[in-house]
Amino acid sequence: MYYEIAEKLLDFIKKSPTAFHAVREMETRLKDEGFCELKEEEHWKLEKGGKYFVTRNHSALIAFSIPRKEVSKFHIMASHSDSPAFKIKENPEMLFDNAYVKLNVEKYGGMLCAPWFDRPLSVAGRLAVREGEELVEKLVCIDRDLLVIPSLAIHMNREANEKASYNIQKELLPLYGEADAMGSFWELIAEAAGVKKEDILGHDLYLYNRTLGTVWGAKGEFLSSARLDDLQCAFSSMEGFLRAGRENFIAVHCVLDNEEVGSTTRQGAASTFLKDTLLRIHTGLGRSYEEYLMTLAGSFMISADNAHSVHPNYGDKADPVNHPVMNRGIVIKYNANQKYCTDAMSAARFKEICRKANVPYQTFVNRSDMPGGSTLGNIANTQVAVSAVDIGLAQLGMHSPYETAGVRDTWYLIQAAKEFFQ
Ligand code: CO
Repeated sequence: MYYEIAEKLLDFIKKSPTAFHAVREMETRLKDEGFCELKEEEHWKLEKGGKYFVTRNHSALIAFSIPRKEVSKFHIMASHSDSPAFKIKENPEMLFDNAYVKLNVEKYGGMLCAPWFDRPLSVAGRLAVREGEELVEKLVCIDRDLLVIPSLAIHMNREANEKASYNIQKELLPLYGEADAMGSFWELIAEAAGVKKEDILGHDLYLYNRTLGTVWGAKGEFLSSARLDDLQCAFSSMEGFLRAGRENFIAVHCVLDNEEVGSTTRQGAASTFLKDTLLRIHTGLGRSYEEYLMTLAGSFMISADNAHSVHPNYGDKADPVNHPVMNRGIVIKYNANQKYCTDAMSAARFKEICRKANVPYQTFVNRSDMPGGSTLGNIANTQVAVSAVDIGLAQLGMHSPYETAGVRDTWYLIQAAKEFFQ
């Protein structure tokens, strides 16, 4: 079962080179499962026993189901759709020395730069396209090896292995073609999207890693892939959500965008997307604002975003006691300054979920002399005040374009999510 799920996860990630594609994959799955799509710009007529989903910016998605009986709780699991990557700038083609064409890119999020060098890359994302008098969105993915960011040879940088610091504008621009490729980039994109070049009026395009995910290790215990942070959690949340009965509360599978750049966008955790959706679920069922607030007070949220495994080569970077290991269960994250929203009650509640789901859990706290990253839970809490716990799956190489995680952990999180939504 672990391997079947691992393969399914890798397949989902392969089809999800950007947040837009991940949301589309989830939409397709939800429609197959009988979920009805709602639009934010239309009235919502909701029914007991109904299953729905809504997207914002086509890069964030919330799916929910309403039980037949009267219930007064939300059970929410939140993860994120985005990962650090290089974004294609406007007018990206740059001719160098009348010999090479490279593409102008900028950083999205805080990535590890070094692993982006010397590997096949390509381009995917969203286009805004004119169709008659309308503007429509088209997803595009160039499904072949298209670009490489070549390293500078050791002979020209003798300190390469002593010091690593990278200038994005100078050193991270991918090589696209020879001089005669100048002017062909938008032709290529237009052809892949099935549109005319002159009709492309806008784009959100990113580089993505072409190396496919793989299961490896002495006994096949690990897997590596692009975008495990946070598609491993988004995938597990969705699987658990779909496998559960969802009859005792309003179950909410929530995948937000822009976590990697601070969440303060209209589709991020700091936005009103979750709050608006929960409120509209209530009004759509004919309930009052006070009843909405009463429901929130009794609700619970799991914020699921990947966590750091202790690194076998850098044991000193972890807390001396609370350092998770891959394949040893779901990581509960703690932080005294509440960068993680976990507290005594929410941690206890999550441990009970794990116990009932029969899956192991472990704990993560940063070394006290090392500030960690942030995540969704406490940010979402400022809009939707519910008791919440921050959790994740242990991984190595976070924010590399090729990250590593445990084969068994995806299964554990699906089981816990299923128990939570049951
Ligand atoms: Co993350």
